[in-house]
Amino acid sequence: MRKIVIAGNWKMNMTPAQTKKFITELAPMVAGLDKCDIVLCVPFVDIATAIEAAAGTNIKIGAENVHFAESGAYTGEISAAMLSEIGTEYVIVGHSERRQYFGETDTTVNLRTKAALAAGLKVILCLGEVKEERLAGITDEVVAMQTKLDLAGISVEELKNVIIAYEPVWAIGTGLTATPEQADETCGVIRKTIASLYGDEAAEAITIQYGGSMNDQNAAELLSKVNVDGGLIGGASLKTDKFTAIVKAANA
Ligand code: PGA
Repeated sequence: MRKIVIAGNWKMNMTPAQTKKFITELAPMVAGLDKCDIVLCVPFVDIATAIEAAAGTNIKIGAENVHFAESGAYTGEISAAMLSEIGTEYVIVGHSERRQYFGETDTTVNLRTKAALAAGLKVILCLGEVKEERLAGITDEVVAMQTKLDLAGISVEELKNVIIAYEPVWAIGTGLTATPEQADETCGVIRKTIASLYGDEAAEAITIQYGGSMNDQNAAELLSKVNVDGGLIGGASLKTDKFTAIVKAANA
């Protein structure tokens, strides 16, 4: 039985005060919905407030990125040790917005993933094809290559703390959602790649989320697919009612 994980990615939204209000409102709405893990990945400055507000609830807190060095001259960056010391449980690595706007490559994504795992964080590793790649019919090759590069040098034991988020870049923030069949198929390709790297047992066990305009209307159908083990949700994670509806769909 794979763990279903519904994770919010707040991106650059919410101040600490808004964070406290949001989680205080959300907690009773999702209380007892324990068939999935519930995670909110929030901006760095909101993490401490989020952890405090989520204490004693079933909501876990994550960061949206992490640097790969232990410490040093990296102005503006945050290390894995900094995150874990304040009680951060998860971290998103390799989000397409980081790849697109901040020069992340599979090499840096791999280094960040390793650093996060070494510090005891759970990683939500994002990958997915851009529109041109899907239109060119090379989606399978692209996600297989990203999976291999991003996980290079990571052991089967470490893989237990990795969730993969399949996020077709053309579906992020655009209102365009992959069809449930497309999501299932490509999550399946990623699972097969994991099997080739780590064996069938690891492939069966790993949580693979879909992300890209998942919302309260389409979540149930996407989550009904055998290879889709949850969601990474941007826009719809900023509204307590919409996010709760997705968590409920995962608990149905
Ligand atoms: P979206 O974002 O749900 O707003 O499309 C998803 C993501 O970027 O993780």
